[in-house]
Amino acid sequence: MRYVGDVAVGAVGLGAMPLSIEGHPDEARAVATVHAALDAGVTLIDTADSYHAPTGGAPGDGELLVARALAAYGGARDRVLVATKGGRGRTPDGGWTVDGDPARLRRAAQASARRLGVEAIGLYQLHKPDPAVPYAESLGALRDLLDAGTVRMAGVSNVDVAQIRLAREILGDRLVSVQNRWSPAVRDSEPELRLCAELGLAFLPWSPLGGISRSSLDGASAQAADPRFGAFHRVARERGVSPQRVALAWALARSPVVVPIPGASRPETARDSAAAAELALDGRELELLGP
Ligand SMILES: NC(=O)c1ccc[n+]([C@@H]2O[C@H](COP(=O)([O-])OP(=O)(O)OC[C@H]3O[C@@H](n4cnc5c(N)ncnc54)[C@H](OP(=O)(O)O)[C@@H]3O)[C@@H](O)[C@H]2O)c1
Repeated sequence: MRYVGDVAVGAVGLGAMPLSIEGHPDEARAVATVHAALDAGVTLIDTADSYHAPTGGAPGDGELLVARALAAYGGARDRVLVATKGGRGRTPDGGWTVDGDPARLRRAAQASARRLGVEAIGLYQLHKPDPAVPYAESLGALRDLLDAGTVRMAGVSNVDVAQIRLAREILGDRLVSVQNRWSPAVRDSEPELRLCAELGLAFLPWSPLGGISRSSLDGASAQAADPRFGAFHRVARERGVSPQRVALAWALARSPVVVPIPGASRPETARDSAAAAELALDGRELELLGP
């Protein structure tokens, strides 16, 4: 288990983006993927109001899907923390926009709460700082949402050290998480990870599999793509598990504040990733995989 604020969650979460953006699976497979993750011990699901197909979809599709999957789940649902985000949108050509306007953020969070069917959103994250709006103003909207009880805990995403410090100043200990891109291959958020460990904030790496996410990569071609991937495949072969599971176990071993949120659009991958919570790498393996 790991902590997001005062909530204990399974050490590996589920990134729900592939379930509702372009190329998403059909409803039955999407719901089965969420259920497989929950059955495997996942209790943190990450979504966003902008996780929808750019054409033929609508804002909130991802949240509605998660809400439907939870409603149809036969097991315990009350321990599931649904994290959503606001502040981004889609363009018809598949692009992503950013909108940090405080009034629109407040309205977006209220709409997210309605779609998720909750009085208070468990974890609401500002998706990305908007260069056109002072970040303190966007964070002020988050503070208002916390004060109003629309949101129980707050997080930020795609932020640097200074922005995390500003968020901490404005939100105090109601800021509980940072979501940045981080994986064995993409390491430029190391300073933010260190700050999260220092402040006791959960660090939710997005795209935590990086280039290892293509299961077709064999050891040799992986090594050619990035010499470090070779070690992940070697440990995986020795353990008889997937390199993706090794990558997630490595991430968990890096810091107790790390809670990876691997994406999945199939029950098999959701299950395989969740099992990384049980994979304790030993000292030799960690040395092989590198810092
Ligand atoms: N805050 C942000 O700006 C931001 C940006 C991007 C993503 N995110 C969040 O982060 C989550 C994760 O990122 P991501 O989905 O882009 O990338 P990712 O987790 O690095 O990779 C997801 C892909 O890896 C495959 N995969 C997952 N587990 C696997 C396993 N055990 N074995 C083999 N393949 C596996 C999945 O395949 P299948 O599809 O076949 O299951 C999926 O296509 C997203 O879902 C979203 O919630 C946030």
